[in-house]
Amino acid sequence: MIGNSYADTYQASLANAEEFWLGAAAGISWATFPHRALDAERAPLYGWFPDGTLNTAYNALDRHVEAGRGSQDALIYDSAMTGARRTYSYADLTGLVADFAGVLRDRGVGKGDRVVIYMPMIPEAVIAMLATARLGAVHSVVFGGFAPKELAARIRDAGPVLVVTASGGVEPARRVEYLPAVAEALTLAGVPGLPVIVKARDGFASTAADHGWLDWDGQMEGARPAAPVEVAATDPLYILYTSGTTGTPKGVVRDNGGYAVALEWTLRNIYGAGPGDVMWTASDVGWVVGHSYIVYGPLLAGATTVLYEGKPVGTPDAGAFWRVIRDHGVNVLFTAPTALRAIRKADPELALLRGYDISSLRTLFTAGERLDTDTFHWAARSLGVPVVDHWWQTETGWAICANPRGLEELPIKAGSPGVPMPGFRLAIVDGMGADVGPGVEGNIVLGLPLPPGTLTTLWGNDERFVSSYLQAFEGRYATGDSGYKDSDGYVYVMGRTDDIINVAGHRLSTGAMEQVIGRHPAVAECAVIGLADPLKGQRPSGYVVLKSGVDLPEDVLAAELVAMVRQDIGAVADFKHVMVVEALPKTRSGKILRKTMRQIADGGEYSVPSTIEDAGVIDQLLGTLRPRNAEPGKGG
Ligand code: COA
Ligand code: AMP
Repeated sequence: MIGNSYADTYQASLANAEEFWLGAAAGISWATFPHRALDAERAPLYGWFPDGTLNTAYNALDRHVEAGRGSQDALIYDSAMTGARRTYSYADLTGLVADFAGVLRDRGVGKGDRVVIYMPMIPEAVIAMLATARLGAVHSVVFGGFAPKELAARIRDAGPVLVVTASGGVEPARRVEYLPAVAEALTLAGVPGLPVIVKARDGFASTAADHGWLDWDGQMEGARPAAPVEVAATDPLYILYTSGTTGTPKGVVRDNGGYAVALEWTLRNIYGAGPGDVMWTASDVGWVVGHSYIVYGPLLAGATTVLYEGKPVGTPDAGAFWRVIRDHGVNVLFTAPTALRAIRKADPELALLRGYDISSLRTLFTAGERLDTDTFHWAARSLGVPVVDHWWQTETGWAICANPRGLEELPIKAGSPGVPMPGFRLAIVDGMGADVGPGVEGNIVLGLPLPPGTLTTLWGNDERFVSSYLQAFEGRYATGDSGYKDSDGYVYVMGRTDDIINVAGHRLSTGAMEQVIGRHPAVAECAVIGLADPLKGQRPSGYVVLKSGVDLPEDVLAAELVAMVRQDIGAVADFKHVMVVEALPKTRSGKILRKTMRQIADGGEYSVPSTIEDAGVIDQLLGTLRPRNAEPGKGG
């Protein structure tokens, strides 16, 4: 079933990694072309292209202008929230990025300095990222749906010299004021005086002047453009925080050279796109998908990227995606399955598609969570284009498994994100690290080294990098996902093996939510689990045991806990369901049996480990949790 092009390419990437990746490196313009691909000197911390130097923003912008394609569209901004639309050519975007880099430089930002970017989906977010990269500085973008405490945790860890933000974000039901949140975060992080640059937007109450901060437009007026700064391929390009199993987010570090090489390769070989093509990734710049395929990937390959500020439904209706595809001639669409499910729920027969010619669309890619087979069949049937699930993580930066459409159009199997991509030595192993056979589910692990473009470490914390990912299975990276391979080598990703859940394609830590809930004075102990949800994939659900003697109505407690999680983590956690239980099931060593609870609540088969402390708790839970199944995902 698997053809020669893919099989040969994959084999070549493993058998002769040096030749393979140095060949791929030719897709990038280097200041110094690397002589070596892999740097194994600090194994198990690997580096790529150790003697190469380049600038990633130059590769994303200037080099296309120098190649005579300055008038080609680079970025199309389309806001369903405000009605704004703007198109930037490569020449326009290069100029704006050089100017903003000049502003940053004049504010003291230099090579290696960190810049935190907390912005909604507006072009200035992309400009700020690329301007930071132009200076050889390191950006850390924080998703706008996170609360001040989460922003503060990232500021504390990254230690930025400056923050770039905007007046706020526009959600369907409300405007989200960013500036008070930034002020609170700076205070919480202990750096209230840090310089902040604010892109002003209409319709928000708080302004830069209110806080004594700098105005983006004012700064840009007299800007003196900055030239790209040459950096080592191994220097960091960005830090992107993602949920770990504890409340402390992990700062995934991405390098410059490996990332540029890998992404440029993926545009051509996975997405089948290049100069003249329009790629629309309907995500947010605050997530890895946004970093790789709204910003860096399409621009490195000289394609056009669409930046969409809006939702799949309700802005104004479930035809929004088809309108954007038609208006901008989108060739490749990349979205999350939850967005397709939202459209399907609102418009099951796709009546709203009829008004739009979407014949430009060649392929629909999905990621962020498993593409369930029902949604897969519905989308493939209704849209008439290949629907390609592919699996990756913030840590990997690009797809571990995919169907590389530009290389070879492999058969698509419903329920599978495809086959391993170059450099990923994927294996399925049992708890002891022994390989299991086809069809047997186990831990998905990746042999070291990981290919270029994947994380190089966690920011300032090599030990946590090693202990989180490299210790459980000797010589391999633990993905934290479980799954199996079929006899054709297709991989099936079934779920996480840890306490991370996926809500509407957003990765969240149940441990972080438990930390917040555990602070409530009435709560003795608690567990948060992710229950199956027909729209969002999973939804967090909290189970609390009250301290003895507490007499608080359940609905009052629930409202307080919901407000606390929203306040501390953010609206995006979507934490809305709380249930008081008499006890939580635990092993004799005190470990809460979250998996058993999830199985009971989801109404599936459940397994109770023999080490359970008190089997009677399961009977109580069966009585308490099972009734929810009448309305899965309804929440509280
Ligand atoms: N800034 C501030 N708040 C935000 C936000 C942002 N950038 N993004 C989401 N929120 C808020 C929402 O307003 C909502 O708040 P509410 O509880 O007051 O209503 C809450 O966070 C949950 O938002 P969301 O998960 O977007 O749910 P929804 O019900 O508003 O919309 C979908 C459901 C399916 C339409 C939406 O989740 C979606 O478009 N998902 C695609 C996800 C995606 O692209 N993921 C990227 C990974 S590839
Ligand atoms: P994030 O780091 O936010 O991209 O989330 C990564 C996690 O999302 C993975 O470890 C998986 O659990 C899940 N995930 C992402 N894409 C897929 C997919 N295509 N199929 C199954 N799970 C996915």
